[in-house]
Amino acid sequence: MLIAPSLLACDFSKFGEEIARMDKAGADFMHLDVMDGHFVPNITFGAPIIKWVRKYTEKPFDVHLMISDPLKYIDDFADAGADIITFHVECDSDIKETIDKIKSHGIKPGLVIKPGTPAEAVFPYLSELYMVLIMTVEPGFGGQSFMADMLPKAELIRKEALRIGNTKLLIEADGGIGEGNIRLLHEAGVDVCVAGTSVFKSENPAQTISNMKNQCI
Ligand code: DX5
Ligand code: ZN
Repeated sequence: MLIAPSLLACDFSKFGEEIARMDKAGADFMHLDVMDGHFVPNITFGAPIIKWVRKYTEKPFDVHLMISDPLKYIDDFADAGADIITFHVECDSDIKETIDKIKSHGIKPGLVIKPGTPAEAVFPYLSELYMVLIMTVEPGFGGQSFMADMLPKAELIRKEALRIGNTKLLIEADGGIGEGNIRLLHEAGVDVCVAGTSVFKSENPAQTISNMKNQCI
């Protein structure tokens, strides 16, 4: 299991140091939640901030765009140093065009589905994707409760990906994940778990990340 700490739960007065701290604690990806106050009822940060903190780690930047028109900003996030860009299938941009734009920068594209969106919504794009992100909370805020009824989506997406020959697809889950439930995600075939509150509220994030990984063997 790969672990992607969500920086949404960090101390933003030391954003760069928090990234370095997660790097040392054993994070595989840095998960960066971009919210526009329109697609979701919350505002976080954008490309300029990401560009400033890019130098604090060499680990991949997994940028989760919770914005209405991602296509308009892909060039900015590419310039900021994103390695993976995931955006919502429920957004207003043309999905295929947005995937192509991400790929044109050599960045890995991913699609995200909200809890109310069926797994099938990503099927038409599956051959083009590096990752599918299944939300296990309503996007917008950290610290919410995990929705276990989202897990069957992972199996449906994996089955379809294998059927069409995308054997390398990564399935990521995001929201309410910690030591107490990560085993369920592993069993459902999830490859990457985002963890905000559970890692940042821990007194020993390295131990928490290691415990999470150990439950997935
Ligand atoms: C929610 C974000 C998540 C969030 C996860 O909209 O996409 O990445 O920060 O935080 P926790 O792990 O606290 O649910
Ligand atoms: Zn996220």
